[in-house]
Amino acid sequence: MAQDLILALDQGTTSTRAILFDRAGQPLAEASRPLRQSYPRDGWVEHDAEEIHAACVAVLREATEASGRAADVAAIGVTNQRETVVIWDKATGRPIHPAIVWQDRRTAEVCARLKAEGHEPRVTEVTGLLLDPYFSGTKIAWILDKVPGARARAEAGELLAGTMDTWVIWKLTGGRVHATDATNASRTLLFDIVAQDWSPEMLDLFDVPASLLPKVLDCVDDYGATQTQILGRETPIRGVAGDQQAALMGQGCIAPGQMKATYGTGCFMLINTGEARCVSRARLLTTVAARVGGKTTYALEGSIFVAGAAIQWLGEGLGVTGGPRAAEALARAAKPDHAVVVVPAFTGLGAPWWDAEARGGIFGLTRDAGLPEIAAATFDSCALQSRDLIEAMRADAPSAFGDAAQLRIDGGMSQSAWFSQRLADLTGLPVRRARYQEITALGAALFAGVGAGLYGSLEEAAEVSPAADTLSPALDTHAREAAYARWLDAVPRVRL
Ligand code: G3P
Repeated sequence: MAQDLILALDQGTTSTRAILFDRAGQPLAEASRPLRQSYPRDGWVEHDAEEIHAACVAVLREATEASGRAADVAAIGVTNQRETVVIWDKATGRPIHPAIVWQDRRTAEVCARLKAEGHEPRVTEVTGLLLDPYFSGTKIAWILDKVPGARARAEAGELLAGTMDTWVIWKLTGGRVHATDATNASRTLLFDIVAQDWSPEMLDLFDVPASLLPKVLDCVDDYGATQTQILGRETPIRGVAGDQQAALMGQGCIAPGQMKATYGTGCFMLINTGEARCVSRARLLTTVAARVGGKTTYALEGSIFVAGAAIQWLGEGLGVTGGPRAAEALARAAKPDHAVVVVPAFTGLGAPWWDAEARGGIFGLTRDAGLPEIAAATFDSCALQSRDLIEAMRADAPSAFGDAAQLRIDGGMSQSAWFSQRLADLTGLPVRRARYQEITALGAALFAGVGAGLYGSLEEAAEVSPAADTLSPALDTHAREAAYARWLDAVPRVRL
């Protein structure tokens, strides 16, 4: 049989999975492993990079063996949790410290100091990002400074660094390839998103030696091949993208104005702005959407830290038993005219507020409000935070944000038709809800499929986007705007 299958490897924050797709984007087999999270101190989040590597090998093998079609795999596409970094010994392949996860806040003080020194405008100009511990640069410097001898060894060229794509590819290729793609590079604070290369100025500012860093390739490129023993033969790796950019591709958002939101623990919303690098005035991030054939397209991105996590809080914090479905049933029983607002700023507020000190609050309680109203307000908070991002995108990229704008959604909360309708109602945008959930893996497969020649172009690959239901806003404008006004009134109250 022809080699017409693509194997996607999705190395995420809570799990590692492999999915085998055919050329039409149909999943044929999949395998996954949960990933342990370590919280050694308040605000610290770590992963065991060796566990990640072992899980990658296991899921790649399991998915291909389950399909019985290992010989038909044309290429592997890799996608990954972004910003999480590891540094390892080039000679032994052993990490010198656990991987520091994107959620980790240990470098908050360094970021605050650099901000106080006035560096943020220049950092944003070069990298598209803000001075926040979320990104990789300060995490790399932290490891070099805290692990005895690491900085000297880095200067001597004995160590390598990378985000999870880079680490996994280096391991799978037996140390032959040390590379990342432009989307992952654009999350490090070290990458010049216009020059499309590591920025000497940022390397100097964040005190990171260039010798540590991988080569930056396109999303569709030659990332070498896996070692023979992994899948029984060398299998080429032909596509790489950070998970949110892969989801953008998986949702078929390759033209300016197309936007997607993925609702997991948090929510990541990206709007494609084409070849124009849009500089945000509304505190969104400017990031690389894709780089294919040397052509870079950009996106504006807004991240909400708490989306699905707010629904989990209904269970773990408020004792609503029965999981998300029970929480939804409770919310649907709320009095329709309640005015309760929940601001789930459990770990601060992300875009566009970027307030690490904010904490959650419940407002508008009346004598007849109870758990159903709080549950409904918690679901609504995910939609209202999405509205914040949409307003910021509309202000930042009015030309990309046309009248035909619609929001393509995926991820856990999108499985709820009721929440998806509420999202349309409270944002005022049509919501296009993918029926297939593994959009991120699909996006990685599409990039690799272009690399393997299964699709003639990115446009052809984007046509493989999955079946979806479109939900139109049904709430009248007055009610929608009143709900948003209550939200905008509540948010400043949770800020110090
Ligand atoms: O920026 C962080 C993001 O890439 C993590 O995504 O899906 O692994 O939580 P996820």
